[in-house]
Amino acid sequence: MKPPVKTIVSAAAILGLFSVLGTGLVSLVHENTRTRIAENQRQSLLHSLQNLVPAEDYDNDILADAIEVGDPELGTKPVAVYRARKSGQAVAAVLSPTAPDGYNGEIRLLVAIKADESLAGVRVLAHKETPGLGDPIDENKSPWILGFTGLSLNNPPEIAWKVKRDGGAFDQFTGATITPRAVVNAVRKTLAYFAANKAALFSQQAQSGVDSPVEDE
Ligand SMILES: Cc1cc2nc3c(=O)[nH]c(=O)nc-3n(C[C@H](O)[C@H](O)[C@H](O)COP(=O)(O)O)c2cc1C
Repeated sequence: MKPPVKTIVSAAAILGLFSVLGTGLVSLVHENTRTRIAENQRQSLLHSLQNLVPAEDYDNDILADAIEVGDPELGTKPVAVYRARKSGQAVAAVLSPTAPDGYNGEIRLLVAIKADESLAGVRVLAHKETPGLGDPIDENKSPWILGFTGLSLNNPPEIAWKVKRDGGAFDQFTGATITPRAVVNAVRKTLAYFAANKAALFSQQAQSGVDSPVEDE
């Protein structure tokens, strides 16, 4: 016996209703998750920046006061630059260069430079260096990277911006020279880039949609 048309129509209507509700729910959850991921990423980036430039040293919205620059000395990718200012005066810029020549490829860095061209600090954001050999560049593995704080192109003199094995001032690691050499080079190049472009870096209009160099934790 065939079911009455009325039953078929109401079954179809219920099915339709559930599919609309289901789709709505999925997109709501998706939107919610996307917003949360973006917020986590913002907080993670802010935490990394404030690790290098303390929050009390500036009074602008450092995440919004960002630009993107491109220069072969800073790597092949666009480099996000976050500017810290107090009462409108330049305090520091945090750049995100990439050292192309790690032992296992690229090493992504955050390099914070004060307006006086000295380093507020350097951190490694991502690398593929060998555990136990190249990974002491990670602040969680050794304090090596903290040694850059306070240095500048004149301190040590630019000629000494090399690892000790190459006649410079920076320690290499036991059995691993390639990784620290790549980081020292990248930091030196970033300092030189900053010195040559400081006025432009601070005067350029902030851009929206600058890609965060920090991945969500
Ligand atoms: C499997 C393997 C992994 C290595 N990983 C690294 C590394 O991550 N970073 C590094 O600088 N050297 C690494 N090395 C050592 C380099 O090949 C190279 O010998 C060393 O960096 C040179 O340092 P030295 O001048 O102190 O000998 C690795 C070597 C091997 C065999």
